[in-house]
Amino acid sequence: MSKFSAAELKTENAVHQLQPMAHPGTARDLPPDIIARGEGSWIWDVDGHRLIDGVGGLWCANLGFSRKEIRDAIVAQLDELPFFNTFRGATHPRAIELSTRLCKMMAPDGVTSVHFSSGGSDAVDGALKLARQYWKLRGQADRVKFISLRQGYHGTHFGGASVNGNTGFRRAYEPLLPGCFHVDTPWLYRNPYTQDPQKLGQICADLLEREIVFQSPDTVAAFIAEPVQGAGGVIVPPPNYWPLVRQICDKYGVLLIADEVVTGFGRTGHLFGTRLWGVKADIWCLAKGISSGYIPLGATAVSAKVMEPFNSGDPVLGSIMHGYTYGAHPVAAAASLATLEIIEREDIPGRAAREGEYFMARLHDLGRRHRLVGDVRGVGLMAGIELVADQGTRAPFPRGAPELARVHREAYKRGAMIRLSGGNIILSRRLMCYAMRWTGHSPR
Ligand SMILES: Cc1ncc(COP(=O)(O)O)c(C=O)c1O
Repeated sequence: MSKFSAAELKTENAVHQLQPMAHPGTARDLPPDIIARGEGSWIWDVDGHRLIDGVGGLWCANLGFSRKEIRDAIVAQLDELPFFNTFRGATHPRAIELSTRLCKMMAPDGVTSVHFSSGGSDAVDGALKLARQYWKLRGQADRVKFISLRQGYHGTHFGGASVNGNTGFRRAYEPLLPGCFHVDTPWLYRNPYTQDPQKLGQICADLLEREIVFQSPDTVAAFIAEPVQGAGGVIVPPPNYWPLVRQICDKYGVLLIADEVVTGFGRTGHLFGTRLWGVKADIWCLAKGISSGYIPLGATAVSAKVMEPFNSGDPVLGSIMHGYTYGAHPVAAAASLATLEIIEREDIPGRAAREGEYFMARLHDLGRRHRLVGDVRGVGLMAGIELVADQGTRAPFPRGAPELARVHREAYKRGAMIRLSGGNIILSRRLMCYAMRWTGHSPR
């Protein structure tokens, strides 16, 4: 319970906190909604208004808000050991247990080792750094460049921001990391090439190959992408895209980094987004669903191939001089172990796949009925509804169009928390809800 009254919370709202992704002035004029309580799939604001959480916290509360097993694991860990570090020379049982469990879970993907951090941006920067270090250990120190996709989102550290593919996240913080280049994303609804998904997958893969060749392959460290783009508007690539990307990376010796911060741990209906495409990456960025958002945690998972020169190469150059005080925080690791147990025991990816089919079918119905809906896309329980000013021409709404704000407010009033990113309504439900409705229970 807050020590502030509801009135005090409202008065102080957005006065002292600089909120991410918001202009301080705008946040003061249009204060954010104050969410005070959560249970299952439901949230309550400070006035007691109940809403269904359509955003999974922020793509992360994948198991909802009331999993007692996770809460109990957190409390038990606080009693046993609330903190210890894992810097050279020390570690703790939960870090060992979690690294073992994750590597077992990801063994089919080829993962043998994992580096812990505190969130998705950390996991991305860890991946970029390990990729550069890998090439130095391999004796190819010129391989320092990164290629990524337009519309991609990889967090907000300088590394992640540099490979981000949206101007909005970059403009105010430039100059960013040198050596980062962007190619077109296979976005069927908006591209200048074709409306044929297979052709588009091939064209965009060709663009990646051309960029690698243009940069000179012996200077390119890695290509990084999300298996399904999340924040950029839930852009699902055509099925041939990732397999082609894997082939191209192999052809030129470029590492493939899968940013699975959103797609990991079941959201797409598969345990990992790369499995959706039948592709193995070399490095994976993990966060969010790893602990169902209960306690911040990130991880960079690494394949045997990437580990090889660390194990056999120069011991000084091979030291991992990258890490965070709170990486593998014991309480976060305990929350994660409890989360992973539930994900496997309850076949959360399978449920997300089944419930996702129903969810997407209903969204498509909705799309057919509304003139503002230009496109409905998604997979599993991640979905995007692109709102347009004109369905025929696909003209987007201008930035800040009142229609967009109105959709958001009306949804809120009617009991649904949704997220707007530009003209896209982004939905990332808890990974288990409709099955309960089918069995006659309300979605808790
Ligand atoms: C694909 C992807 N990568 C990285 C991040 C950054 O994660 P965090 O906000 O935990 O730093 C996000 C956050 O939404 C993300 O969607």
